Amino acid sequence: MYETILSPVDYGGLRLKNRILFAPTTFGLSDEETLAKYRALAEGGCAMIIVGDVPVGKSRFEKSLFDAKGFAFYQQLAEIAHAADCKLCAQLHQSDSDLLAMLKYLPALLTKKLTPDQLREKLNEAVGPYITKMPKRKIQTILDGFGKAALLARQAGFDMVQVHGDRMCGSFSSALFNHRTDEYGGSAENRARFAVEAVRAVRTAVPGMPIDYKLAVRQEDPHFGNAGVAEEELSVFVPLLEQAGVTSFHVTLANHSALEDTIPPASHPYFGQPGCFLKFCDEVRQYTALPLCGVGGLNDPDFVEQQLASGRIQCAAMSRPLLADPDLVNKLKNGQAAQIHRCVRCNKKCLGGLMAHQGTRCIYDALRAKEA
Ligand SMILES: Cc1cc2nc3c(=O)[nH]c(=O)nc-3n(C[C@H](O)[C@H](O)[C@H](O)COP(=O)(O)O)c2cc1C
Repeated sequence: MYETILSPVDYGGLRLKNRILFAPTTFGLSDEETLAKYRALAEGGCAMIIVGDVPVGKSRFEKSLFDAKGFAFYQQLAEIAHAADCKLCAQLHQSDSDLLAMLKYLPALLTKKLTPDQLREKLNEAVGPYITKMPKRKIQTILDGFGKAALLARQAGFDMVQVHGDRMCGSFSSALFNHRTDEYGGSAENRARFAVEAVRAVRTAVPGMPIDYKLAVRQEDPHFGNAGVAEEELSVFVPLLEQAGVTSFHVTLANHSALEDTIPPASHPYFGQPGCFLKFCDEVRQYTALPLCGVGGLNDPDFVEQQLASGRIQCAAMSRPLLADPDLVNKLKNGQAAQIHRCVRCNKKCLGGLMAHQGTRCIYDALRAKEA
C-alpha cells in the first residue's frame, strides 16, 4: 500500500531507508525534552532528521557546534539517531536579524510598548539595510563559518548538511532586501553569489558529504514570501547552486512574511491544501535532475504515496505530521495507517507553543502519553 514511501532512495549520494524525513523544526525545549523528542522521531521510523537552525558560528541563543557543550549535544543526538538506524542532517544557518536593531527595540518590548509581532515587523524592516550595508569582511567571515560548521557537523556525526536558503542566504537572494551595488547585489547572478559561496565553502570543507539546500521560493501573484528566490529567477539560481555542490533541494515557500504562510494552517486562504508547496517543486524540476524533497501539509499518507510514486518528489519532509505522530512510518509499515494521529494543521501547540515560549508541542501529546 505504501511501497514507495517505504522504499529506500539515494538522496544526493546518501542512502535513506525510506522517503520520510523530519523537516527542520525548532523546539524551544530543555535539552532533555529535545533529546527525548528526537529519540521518539528516530525510533518512529523516519529515514532522516534534519536538525533546524544549527548556527555557523558561536551563538548565545542556539546550540552551536563551535562550543564544547553544543558539540557534545549534537554528538549525543547523532548517537541516538544512528542507534535507531536514522540519518542526521544539520541545517546550517546564519540569522539575518540585525542584533543592534534588536537591542534598540528591547526596552519597548520589555515595557510591552511593542508586541512580539510588532518586533518581528521592525526586525524585518531592518533586514534590507543590514544586508545592503554589510561589509565584505563580515560576509567573508560568515561564508568561512559555513565551511567550518560543516566540518564540525561531520565530526559530530552528522551524515548530511543542509544549507538554509532562507535567513541570510535568502535575504541576499531577494531583490526586496538586497540593494547592494557590488558583486553581491544587482543581477540575479550577483544576488545568488552569497548562497553559492556558502555552498562552495561547505563543499571545500567536506568533499564527498551530501549537501541539501533549503530552497525558499517567493511568489508575486498573489504575493507570498519576501526573502528567498523569486519564481522567475529559479532558472538562474538552481543551476548555479547545483554547480557549487548542492546534491538535493528541499523546496518550500520563502520566509519574512507571516509565519502562518510558511507553516500554513488548514484554514490558510491560499496554502490550506495538502502538498501546498509542491507546485514550487514542479518549477524547480525544470532546471535540475537532482532529488527533490517536498514539504508543507503532507499529512495524508495516501496523498504522499501518490506524489512519490509519480516521481514528482523523491522524499517527503514533515514537521507537524511527525510532531503529531512520531510513529507514523512504523504504523505504515505495520499496516496501522488508520491508527496514525493525523495532523490537522491547527498550529495551536506547535507554532503556537513556540511563539508563547512554551516550546513546540502538539495537541495529541496527552493522548499519546496515555497510549504509551
Ligand atoms: C514549531 C515549528 C518550528 C519550525 N522551525 C523551523 C526551523 O528551525 N527551520 C526551518 O527551516 N523550518 C522550520 N519550520 C518549518 C518546517 O520545517 C516546515 O517547513 C513547515 O512546518 C511546513 O511543513 P509541515 O506542514 O510538515 O509542518 C518549523 C515549523 C514548526 C511548526
